[in-house]
Amino acid sequence: MRLVVAITGCSGVTYGVRLLEACRQLGIETDLIVSRAAEQILKLELGKSVDDLRKLATRSYQPDDFTAPLASGSVHTDGMVIAPCSVKTLGAVASGVAADLITRAADVTLKEVRPLVLVPRETPLNLIHLENMARLKRAGATILPAMPAFYQKPQSIQDLVDFVVGKILDVLDVEHQLYRRWRGLKGNDY
Ligand SMILES: Cc1cc2nc3c(=O)[nH]c(=O)nc-3n(C[C@H](O)[C@H](O)[C@H](O)COP(=O)(O)O)c2cc1C
Repeated sequence: MRLVVAITGCSGVTYGVRLLEACRQLGIETDLIVSRAAEQILKLELGKSVDDLRKLATRSYQPDDFTAPLASGSVHTDGMVIAPCSVKTLGAVASGVAADLITRAADVTLKEVRPLVLVPRETPLNLIHLENMARLKRAGATILPAMPAFYQKPQSIQDLVDFVVGKILDVLDVEHQLYRRWRGLKGNDY
């Protein structure tokens, strides 16, 4: 399996980093693009550089490199995840504005009818954000907000992050053990 992973300038860049780690552990190839804004937030929130992340990915590209293979639909991938996804990037994809490699690769993913998962992290949401999400949903994308659940009794921030990353992998039909599934109140499947 080959997945495009993009990280944009949102709080919660840890979601994208954890997704890269999980893909590596699961033997999934990743093509990484980190936006310029995400680069700054990586340093601020995690003390990490893009070079640190490149080590986790199979391939990586500059966000302004339109000559990269991902800018063309002729390169086969099994889908793309933008985690976290800023409302700026979400709006650009919703409007078909392919102004950088992330939005171009997302546009290509939609036109080739491959899975596209966007993980927005913003609150509260304005009407423009909500309408952009609805538009993307109608175009075939999955909107998977960074909304961790609490029924699995998380013990750490890592557990909360793993829940969201597990949900991303669920959408892509990838088996994983990142969170414990709900088994009903008796602890068993009914
Ligand atoms: C510390 C910090 C946190 C931010 N958090 C968010 C956020 O959670 N969600 C969001 O949509 N934008 C957030 N932004 C704003 C985006 O980084 C900004 O809109 C940027 O243009 C996004 O560009 P990109 O989508 O190309 O990464 C944040 C900016 C900074 C500096």
